[in-house]
Amino acid sequence: GVRGVSETAQAPSGELERVLIDEATLQRRVAELGEEIARAYQGKRPVLIGVLTGAFVFMADLVRHLPIDLDIDFMAVSSYGQATVTSGVVRIIKDLDRPIEGRDVLLVEDIIDSGLTLQYLLDVLQRRNPRSLRVVVLLRKQKPGAVSVRADWVGFDIPDEFVVGYGLDAAGRFRNLPFIAVYRNAAQG
Ligand code: XMP
Ligand code: MG
Repeated sequence: GVRGVSETAQAPSGELERVLIDEATLQRRVAELGEEIARAYQGKRPVLIGVLTGAFVFMADLVRHLPIDLDIDFMAVSSYGQATVTSGVVRIIKDLDRPIEGRDVLLVEDIIDSGLTLQYLLDVLQRRNPRSLRVVVLLRKQKPGAVSVRADWVGFDIPDEFVVGYGLDAAGRFRNLPFIAVYRNAAQG
């Protein structure tokens, strides 16, 4: 098991391989991203779009480091096909509550793996004619063969391993961990 993970959080028998990014490191980086993003949108009123469900914790922490006028919206998406393989075509489960035409949009994502989900979302949002469209992603995997997709701010570049915690899940579990850990049974991720 991983030190610092309570038995209730960790569930049966050491499914977490190791802590990849501890809580203090996450919080420091999110605060830094907040400062940079606040500077970039000074005097504007961006709309932040969180991609559910994975980005909800990152979004919640990030906005508390943004002392600017802003709006919040969410989209829920799911990939077609197998859960562990991304086809690049995502189904919109919940669309935005409001139009983004003419708005400064910041898409808030949890992770870039193959990059296909983000690429698809950017296409969908761009067609709605926002004034600007930028991306902040907490984690970006160093993945051979991943499509290169624009991320304006990246929290951490991480190895190509399945990770959980801080909003990210394995079959719905571990989203509540305050740190990022490597999940042991990656094939079942
Ligand atoms: P890509 O970039 O491959 O990512 O389109 C698609 C979605 O897959 C999820 N994903 C993960 N979820 N741990 C997770 O909990 C991971 O290591 C991981 N890698 C990809 C995530 O929802 C992403 O948006
Ligand atoms: Mg997931």
